[in-house]
Amino acid sequence: TEPLRVALLGCGVVGSEVARLMTANAADLAARVGAPLELVGIAVRRPNRQREIPGVGAELFTTDAEGLVKRADVDLVVEVIGGIEPSRSLILAALESGKSVVSANKALLAEDGGTLYQAAERHGADLYYEAAVAGAIPLLRPLRESLVGDRVRRVLGIVNGTTNFILDRMDTTGAGFTEALEEATALGYAEADPTADVEGFDAAAKAAILAGLAFHTRVTASDVYREGITEVTAADIASAKAMGSVVKLLAICEVDQEAKKVSARVHPAMIPRSHPLAGVREAYNAVFIESESAGQLMFYGPGAGGSPTASAVLGDLVAVARNKVTGSRGPGESAYAGLTVRPVGEA
Ligand code: HSE
Repeated sequence: TEPLRVALLGCGVVGSEVARLMTANAADLAARVGAPLELVGIAVRRPNRQREIPGVGAELFTTDAEGLVKRADVDLVVEVIGGIEPSRSLILAALESGKSVVSANKALLAEDGGTLYQAAERHGADLYYEAAVAGAIPLLRPLRESLVGDRVRRVLGIVNGTTNFILDRMDTTGAGFTEALEEATALGYAEADPTADVEGFDAAAKAAILAGLAFHTRVTASDVYREGITEVTAADIASAKAMGSVVKLLAICEVDQEAKKVSARVHPAMIPRSHPLAGVREAYNAVFIESESAGQLMFYGPGAGGSPTASAVLGDLVAVARNKVTGSRGPGESAYAGLTVRPVGEA
């Protein structure tokens, strides 16, 4: 069978693991797709940086991301660069030439997912981004596919590993905020600029994506009320402890079906130690989905880190590759005009 040719954009913590697994697990992936997946190029900013990825030759690296995406022999594009530009232009270029895209880019999906979906729709391509929210935890596909026949009422949980790690360390070891943040960064959980994590922007982007998928409407990061954890002090943690509680950064997405309004917010909250979310330790994430017929579902697992995030990227890569082989497509955007977004605080 003709191989499907894959371009990888970005080779950081996640990208290098994706490249390694594509090589190490090539036979399994080929069997699941029905065709071999061939990694034909990796776009990076610094080509001379020392990268030792078993099975990945130095000749695959290029600084010409645009050229790579537009290559006629590229079938599928995986974007793990992050940030708005150049990721948006590269993804649009791929979709506009009918190439399906797998992305882990929560910031972009939360800011401008609608534009990407429209491009995918127009050109018959797939857009999958399971890795953008809660790392390895299958959460977006359950919302887009398994629960699409149900009515989701609420999505609530811990969607940022770095802040959960920091709050957990502060709770268990009495470490200060800075010390705990350094540890989270060293472990590869924090974003390159940890502001996105500790100020709640990362969680707000994820909340926007979750709310959009859960309630079939378009929600952007700026619609999400946001408070981070930089003002949580050791004294706050101690007083929560004295009350039998822990402090967690929660993302809460809700819909008021009667008012036809959706709201999403991210802020630190005190949770009783007996609550399942209180037991979510280190960089783990956990999300509850409450829906009309299914009731309450809990999703739990590693929400950050190279290996878990690569698992989600590869799952999506297999899905879009299979669709390509069978000539089918995955779910598109399910947005409709029936619901509006209500900023939190507005009655
Ligand atoms: N910085 C993010 C987190 C990575 O800590 O959850 C996963 O999106």
